[in-house]
Amino acid sequence: MSLRSQEQGSARVVVQAVPWKVRAWRELEAGRERIQAMLAPLPEAELMRQHSPLMSPLVWDVAHMANYEEQWLLRALGAPAFTDPAFDAIYDAFRHPRNTRSTLPLLEPEAAWAYATRVRAAVAAHLETLPEDSADPLLHGGFVFGMVAQHAQQHAETLAATLQLMTHVEYHPVEALRPQPGAVPQHEVFIPGGPVRLGSDDPWAYDNERPRHVVELAPFLLDAHPVTTGDFLVFVESGGYEDARWWDPKGFAWIQAERIRHPLFWSPQGHHVWLRRRFGTVEPLPKDEPVQHVSWYEADAYARWAGKRLPTEAEWEKAAQGSDGVPRAHPWGDAVPTDAHANLGGTRWGPSPVGSHPSGRGADGVWGLLGDVWEWTASDFQPYAGFRAFPYREYSEVFFGDTSKVLRGGAWASAPVAVRNSFRNWDFPIRRQIFAGFRCARDVK
Ligand SMILES: [Fe+2]
Repeated sequence: MSLRSQEQGSARVVVQAVPWKVRAWRELEAGRERIQAMLAPLPEAELMRQHSPLMSPLVWDVAHMANYEEQWLLRALGAPAFTDPAFDAIYDAFRHPRNTRSTLPLLEPEAAWAYATRVRAAVAAHLETLPEDSADPLLHGGFVFGMVAQHAQQHAETLAATLQLMTHVEYHPVEALRPQPGAVPQHEVFIPGGPVRLGSDDPWAYDNERPRHVVELAPFLLDAHPVTTGDFLVFVESGGYEDARWWDPKGFAWIQAERIRHPLFWSPQGHHVWLRRRFGTVEPLPKDEPVQHVSWYEADAYARWAGKRLPTEAEWEKAAQGSDGVPRAHPWGDAVPTDAHANLGGTRWGPSPVGSHPSGRGADGVWGLLGDVWEWTASDFQPYAGFRAFPYREYSEVFFGDTSKVLRGGAWASAPVAVRNSFRNWDFPIRRQIFAGFRCARDVK
């Protein structure tokens, strides 16, 4: 019996016998279905087109995901290769910068999907032959399947960013209903100091989340909610982008050179009227949503203007864990994220108003730490002491240094499988096309 029919026919038995295999298969299929649904409305020409120098042609991602899956879930686990070796070069993200990928001999959409289907069928067959437990670290707890499932969902988020940048055609996604939040005044939460255990032993956690270790923190105050578009608009309209006092000097030089005066995708209509474009829709600025499409420099400047600062990633993780010392994968506990907890999974195509997910509050009373928008932190992306690259240097190690800032928490476009208290994302401080916002922190005087 195939794993697929086992899952449908007698899931309980399989879950008890080989739970990581069932989870792996479910997550791989969920990623594939999501990406197919996202790209289905687009004609072939738009899938092949380079929509932005920042992004790949959409069809590159489709075959790249299949190639990654073939490399890690077939070849690295002893299954025979069956593709043209040229694919490894064409779909190697490190060999080709995004703005050059449209010049490669890419598979056209139908062939790219056929390749993905062929790989997936081989993975299903090979998965059944694999041991439930193994000394191979790639297979411990199904790690490598978790890595490939998270990789696909991270690409789904990248695809969403490309769809947002796209201007050749209007993209109108099917959106889940938006929640109606209660009244949630912005306020700060006191987070006591003391030890915090950072990182994760989750078998699907990445190398950059390891090893778990303890750091000491001073007490601090953290915004209960992310900064909203309404909050940020006050900064914009009060001349925040013209006043060098609030800005990191490099950031101020950058916004002047690029003539940046407000978050990406906003457009001023005169006399306090603002619109924003969200995919194919131009709509009034929603003042109660977390602000998104701001760079680290903009977040940092707002925080300084507000008399605050960005939290460090350790402070963010402390707030997500709660100060009672109980280990938790998510701010609310270990339960798998649902709609009641957080806006994740890409079904809403934008952030929810702050306060929409009361079940997702952390133990200390901080809201919205997971989902809605990635949150910029003050921290550079550096390895934890004792870091070991696994299973390849190019996932994390080559990005360590002082050029990228850490983001935490996941956005509305992030999948639950790729979001947890310990998850570390990173990007350059000028990046704005990602679904990033922030919240502020303050020292306790
Ligand atoms: Fe990738």
